Amino acid sequence: MIQRSVHPPQPVEITPPESDLMIVTLDGPAGAGKSTIARQLADRLGFAFLDTGAMYRAVTLVAVRNRGPWDDPQALAELARQCQIEMEGGRVHLNGEDVSELIRLNEVTSHIHYLADNWAVRERMVALQRAFAEGKDIVTEGRDQGTVAFPKADCKIFLTASPEERARRRVQELQARGEQVSVAEVLALQNERDRRDSTRKVGRLEPAPDAIDVCTDGMSPDEVVEQLVEIVRERMQRTDG
Ligand code: C5P
Repeated sequence: MIQRSVHPPQPVEITPPESDLMIVTLDGPAGAGKSTIARQLADRLGFAFLDTGAMYRAVTLVAVRNRGPWDDPQALAELARQCQIEMEGGRVHLNGEDVSELIRLNEVTSHIHYLADNWAVRERMVALQRAFAEGKDIVTEGRDQGTVAFPKADCKIFLTASPEERARRRVQELQARGEQVSVAEVLALQNERDRRDSTRKVGRLEPAPDAIDVCTDGMSPDEVVEQLVEIVRERMQRTDG
């Protein structure tokens, strides 16, 4: 399958919103437990929560249903422009349809890079993310939230874990759902996603220069949430004072 080059003619415009509200960004690689942790962190703080991976998954589902066209970045960007994505109460609605489970299918995951590597799609996603954040205290989770979407966020966290630990956690999750996979298989797919995510031209996975690195190896999800609540509260006091 051929994919045309999708280099941006110019960098994605960065116009961060100015406000007194608190934006907490949580970026990091696949399998670091970001979604669960970000959701719990948002609950603990009483903030809104945005899962930006789910947004890329939703536009990818549109493209999968449309059978691409995978070699036409402009057509993919047009599909992304036309669809309506709503995120509420932990559910994802695509043009009014609840697709929260469908977007987790392997067929979606394996095609995400066609959309995530497309600068025009990313520009639209970033605009939607900023619109969602307007007027809210928010925890937003993804790859480029602290670098591209909200470069002026008050608190940026980069959540990591070693590749082996991330793969082990994923295997446990899949086994709990009755799926039998080996750590080696999961690790190979995860390495490929990490490589793609950290080498894309726009919105690549990387810590913002002012992000706090938190490595979760050997920590339970509750311990991680506790540590992050501490970090955010400390930051809130500093920005208040
Ligand atoms: O977080 P999740 O694994 O659901 O994200 C799915 C994919 O969406 C990632 O592997 C990445 O390629 C893409 N993504 C992105 N930028 C974001 C969030 C997700 O490119 N902010």
